[in-house]
Amino acid sequence: MAKNSFSGVFPPSICAGGALVTVLAAYNGFTSLRSMTFQNCTTLEHIDFTENKIVADLMACFGKPPEQLRGLTVSNNHLYGTLLTDDGEVFLCNSTRLSLLDLSNNALNGDLSNSKCLWNMRHLEFMDLSSNSLSGVVPFLATPNRNLQSLHLANNHFSGAFPLVLKKSKKLITLDLGGNNFSGGIPSWISKSLPDLRFLLLSSNMFDGIIPSQILQFRQLQLLDLSKNKFTGRIPSNFGNFTGMIQEQKNGNSTYCYLPAEQLRIVLKNEGYLYNFTISFIVGMDLSSNFLSQEIPKGLTSLVGLRYLNLSRNHLSGGIPGDVGNLALLESLDLSENQLSGEIPPSLADLKALGTLNLSTNGLSGRIPTGSQLQTFPDPSIYSNNPGLCGFPLQDCVNPSASNQNDMKQDEDMETLWLYCFVVAGVIFGFWLYWGMLFCKETWRHVFYQYVDSMQDKVITKKIAAYRASKLRHE
Ligand SMILES: *[C@@H]1O[C@H](CO)[C@@H](O)[C@H](O)[C@H]1NC(C)=O
Ligand SMILES: *[C@@H]1O[C@H](CO)[C@@H](O)[C@H](O)[C@H]1NC(C)=O
Ligand SMILES: *[C@@H]1O[C@H](CO)[C@@H](O)[C@H](O)[C@H]1NC(C)=O
Ligand SMILES: *[C@@H]1O[C@H](CO)[C@@H](O)[C@H](O)[C@H]1NC(C)=O
Repeated sequence: MAKNSFSGVFPPSICAGGALVTVLAAYNGFTSLRSMTFQNCTTLEHIDFTENKIVADLMACFGKPPEQLRGLTVSNNHLYGTLLTDDGEVFLCNSTRLSLLDLSNNALNGDLSNSKCLWNMRHLEFMDLSSNSLSGVVPFLATPNRNLQSLHLANNHFSGAFPLVLKKSKKLITLDLGGNNFSGGIPSWISKSLPDLRFLLLSSNMFDGIIPSQILQFRQLQLLDLSKNKFTGRIPSNFGNFTGMIQEQKNGNSTYCYLPAEQLRIVLKNEGYLYNFTISFIVGMDLSSNFLSQEIPKGLTSLVGLRYLNLSRNHLSGGIPGDVGNLALLESLDLSENQLSGEIPPSLADLKALGTLNLSTNGLSGRIPTGSQLQTFPDPSIYSNNPGLCGFPLQDCVNPSASNQNDMKQDEDMETLWLYCFVVAGVIFGFWLYWGMLFCKETWRHVFYQYVDSMQDKVITKKIAAYRASKLRHE
């Protein structure tokens, strides 16, 4: 029935007397599933209600879920209610053949802390519980599922440490724990235990500590999102083994995609995206909004497959690496709100694919490079709060030769020196203009002395007159 315009209540007796194996009703307009609709569906293996408008209590639609069930995908509906039976386990525990479970984007709840069956379903390869109201810690199991390839728990209320249960999930490709309340550090076993991981999203949690250097042992990783946590220390520097980001990932390389509908929620080019990675490709690193410090490691510029790099809102210092121009595929670069200093390297202007740039709120100085790509960024706010920057699209640099603050300071010193020179020269010039003329030209000299003489005469005559007058009065 998939991809039609069916609507209303889904037929409640769909399984009556039959041997129905598959219900594919995705992308329709069904609005309701009656309770116990799947009560007698003992032979059912696949249920797909992706993207309808169903308002229903999910657990109540099943009496006892079919034991043969392999796939249950009901994402993007309005399903509500708890997932837990009275014993605290998830109601799907008896469907031990389940390999595909997508309950994402609904309103389901429940504290999954005691539900161990979810983590040791031997066949489960894909589980997406994201964007619900689920909570609890992920329990630890001695014999967990080793076949999990894709795990999405994003945008729920999960808490506790990084799930230790994943240590044996050697086949994991996608791990999205974003938007929860996970805390503690990234375990150092992560790259060794999850060698095939390509997508690691831990953003918007309470993770802290340093980014362990072991994270650089991931050979396949192409998306690392650690944004909006409390990570401290420096960014690791030796990216030599990071082949997933050193290579260009070509479009259409979807062999690692499990479901056509598999999606990731990420921020690219300043906007939140639901990233569907069957139709596209992505290589990016987002470490923004943490407490990372020290320099941007030089090795970062060897990740020439990178398309998105966001290091904003940290405490990074030092300069922008001079060879940032090596990142030829870079489409988006955000270094805003750090303490970066020095000049913007001219090679930044070589980034032909760059469409989003933000260098605001740093201590950068000097002239903004004038390459053609940078001329396509007329918005001056991307450079704002860098008191030392000048050139397009900011104000023209005062002294065209000024290329950094040191030069500008030297220029100021030179200006003061010149001022003194001018004053002294002025005095000397004035002096000679006055006296020189008198000494050089005889007639002027005579005129001058005559003038002085006549002044003297006048003064003396006046004095004598005054003297006489006073004498006369005394007499
Ligand atoms: C399931 O089977 C029982 C017994 O045959 C029947 O009473 C019930 O109505 C059935 N439920 C549905 C939803 O068909
Ligand atoms: C997140 O977890 C911390 C403890 O790690 C707790 O204090 C805090 O209340 C939790 N926040 C939310 C929103 O659940
Ligand atoms: C970088 O990350 C911050 C959040 O930490 C976000 O607000 C900003 O839009 C991101 N920049 C880009 C270019 O996507
Ligand atoms: C640049 O970054 C700053 C701080 O992170 C942010 O406030 C501002 O909106 C960003 N500007 C643009 C144009 O993206």
